[in-house]
Amino acid sequence: MVDGVLMRSCVTPVEGVAGRKITTIEAIEEDDVGKRVVAAWVKHQVPQCGYCQSGQVMAATALLKQTPHPSDEQVAAAMINLCRC
Ligand code: FES
Repeated sequence: MVDGVLMRSCVTPVEGVAGRKITTIEAIEEDDVGKRVVAAWVKHQVPQCGYCQSGQVMAATALLKQTPHPSDEQVAAAMINLCRC
């Protein structure tokens, strides 16, 4: 997340985010919403291989920070990360 907005790191040039607030999966539990997402992830044993896990947690956290009670349609629209499992 850059300044609280979800961004795909694979297509974001580093020089484009210099000086901005960056939050990665490593620090997501410092955020109250992120901490609850990770706790739910563990409780429900969400991942299979875990490859997509970081992106899924970041996307879910960004969604819930912006929309605390999303509809099914909002969840489907926000959770577009591919899970190959
Ligand atoms: Fe394996 Fe998502 S858990 S790719």
